[in-house]
Amino acid sequence: MADPHTFLLIVLFSFQFAIISAQEPLFNFSCSDESVNSQSNQYRYNLDGLLQKLNSTDSAFDESTAGESPYQVYGLYLCRGDVTDQICRSCVQNATSTIVNKCPTSAGALIGYDYCMFRFSNVSFFGELESSPIVYMWNPANITGTSIDSFEQVVNETFMEIAVEAAEGDWLGQKFATKETNYTAKNGNLYALGQCSPDLSSADCRSCLKLSVEYLFQCCGGKSGARVFLSSSCNVRYEIYPFYADRPRGQSYDKHV
Ligand SMILES: *[C@@H]1O[C@H](CO)[C@@H](O)[C@H](O)[C@H]1NC(C)=O
Ligand SMILES: *[C@@H]1O[C@H](CO)[C@@H](O)[C@H](O)[C@H]1NC(C)=O
Ligand SMILES: *[C@@H]1O[C@H](CO)[C@@H](O)[C@H](O)[C@H]1NC(C)=O
Ligand SMILES: *[C@@H]1O[C@H](CO)[C@@H](O)[C@H](O)[C@H]1NC(C)=O
Ligand SMILES: *[C@@H]1O[C@H](CO)[C@@H](O)[C@H](O)[C@H]1NC(C)=O
Ligand SMILES: *[C@@H]1O[C@H](CO)[C@@H](O)[C@H](O)[C@H]1NC(C)=O
Ligand SMILES: *[C@@H]1O[C@H](CO)[C@@H](O)[C@H](O)[C@H]1NC(C)=O
Repeated sequence: MADPHTFLLIVLFSFQFAIISAQEPLFNFSCSDESVNSQSNQYRYNLDGLLQKLNSTDSAFDESTAGESPYQVYGLYLCRGDVTDQICRSCVQNATSTIVNKCPTSAGALIGYDYCMFRFSNVSFFGELESSPIVYMWNPANITGTSIDSFEQVVNETFMEIAVEAAEGDWLGQKFATKETNYTAKNGNLYALGQCSPDLSSADCRSCLKLSVEYLFQCCGGKSGARVFLSSSCNVRYEIYPFYADRPRGQSYDKHV
């Protein structure tokens, strides 16, 4: 018989593995195919300067630029509409340090996390509805208890409402909305969230969210949870468990995810 310590270790190990393998990834990213000339350190220098600027702000959204053409770099981060300043800052720090490691010579990149997203590029993109790059993330579990078609119909309807509400914007200037609904008659709760970059117009925000939902079905049909980051313009996510705080940022800081 195995040593009891070994047995305990095996149990602990397989338990931990089961948890990890069922988890969704922490982040996903996309590096631009275009590389900056690696002979020149100027772009990277400007990028580091930009990251330091963005790293030291306290808001839920910021965009900035550093350097001059042809090595000018543009960057933007956006935190999820319901997270605290503290979580936002920690997420942005993780995002900026991860993306420069993952895409060290790229002219641009996009990274999406639970609580924030970050994008940089050598081409200006502020305030524009752009449909690339795209980053997808999904929950590996499939939806059960209903057909994919009727599930997607509910998901779609829910996001159409979110698109209208988010596009209106709130008193904080955020374009963020969540909605909880049922995807089966009995229970089966669906939680959905949509957010646009606050620098998008309302019309572009609505279009962006609708477009994201189409991509959502293309990438992740039948999944019990999925996310699309449509460039830095907007992002959508749904799950069958609650993943957001039930009040937007700013209203109360004492109860959070
Ligand atoms: C961005 O970088 C790519 C790759 O180096 C280059 O081809 C393109 O001209 C650059 N665009 C601008 C606006 O600098
Ligand atoms: C951002 O700030 C944190 C904490 O001050 C620091 O550890 C990190 O290196 C900074 N990241 C960048 C990209 O400047
Ligand atoms: C940032 O990364 C650290 C270290 O991996 C982790 O503990 C922390 O939870 C991350 N923060 C966010 C907001 O994801
Ligand atoms: C994101 O993650 C999945 C694996 O979970 C991968 O297949 C996909 O290509 C990744 N990249 C993007 C840009 O979504
Ligand atoms: C989900 O469904 C797909 C397609 O039917 C299947 O290939 C996959 O193995 C399923 N995944 C899980 C985690 O059950
Ligand atoms: C989602 O709903 C909208 C508005 O009702 C509709 O135009 C669109 O085709 C639907 N998309 C899908 C994938 O069902
Ligand atoms: C979802 O189903 C539960 C249980 O039947 C019900 O109490 C709740 O009102 C339903 N919610 C919605 C949004 O339909």
